[in-house]
Amino acid sequence: MTQDELKAQAAHAALDEIPDGAIVGVGTGSTVNHFIDALAGQRQRIRGAVSSSERSSERLRGHGITVFEAGDVQRLPVYVDGADEIDGRGFMIKGGGAALTREKIVADLAERFVCIVDAGKCVQTLGAFALPVEVITMATAQVARRFEALGGRAVLRAGVLTDNGHPLLDVHGLAIADPLALEIEVNQWPGVVTVGLFARHRASLCLVGSEQGVQRRVF
Ligand code: 5RP
Repeated sequence: MTQDELKAQAAHAALDEIPDGAIVGVGTGSTVNHFIDALAGQRQRIRGAVSSSERSSERLRGHGITVFEAGDVQRLPVYVDGADEIDGRGFMIKGGGAALTREKIVADLAERFVCIVDAGKCVQTLGAFALPVEVITMATAQVARRFEALGGRAVLRAGVLTDNGHPLLDVHGLAIADPLALEIEVNQWPGVVTVGLFARHRASLCLVGSEQGVQRRVF
């Protein structure tokens, strides 16, 4: 199977995690696009969605699914999103699609985070995928120096601004043994909007598309 077929497999399995009548938290990326397309077939069963990006909102609306603002809801039963890497504890690197800040905001509203990935995203230690960090422009060089002091190499993502209008750094060369500690540390640095470590907002369930079928990992 191709990587895209494995993504689609995981995405379809996530439909079983959506309660009837729910407003669903919806992430961003190619795996989530499969989820949105599958959700369209069940749109009568849900009230709508809160989305983590303009791209996902547009796709949801295109399928006739109502998109609510994050401020319209107090709690979501479930948030479904992909990841760039996920480890054996449900900690993730996210932000390859530049939507990390809104992803963390919507994840924070949700009781459960259902992560959908192909098997290639499962790692022992996070960090082979460069860690995305959304920053205020003025702080870019200083935040890059702080990562260098930790042994990382921060590269500005060329030609990309987030939906919030901020630049992104991609930090290479980190082997992240303690994702929770690093997330807390980087969150203290002035000018950091969001670090793409999802440790405080880790997955509760990961659905992994594999040649052997969908594997279900509960955290
Ligand atoms: C976007 C993300 C995505 O979930 C992550 O990049 C995975 O994307 P894809 O499903 O296309 O592999 O964090 O900001």
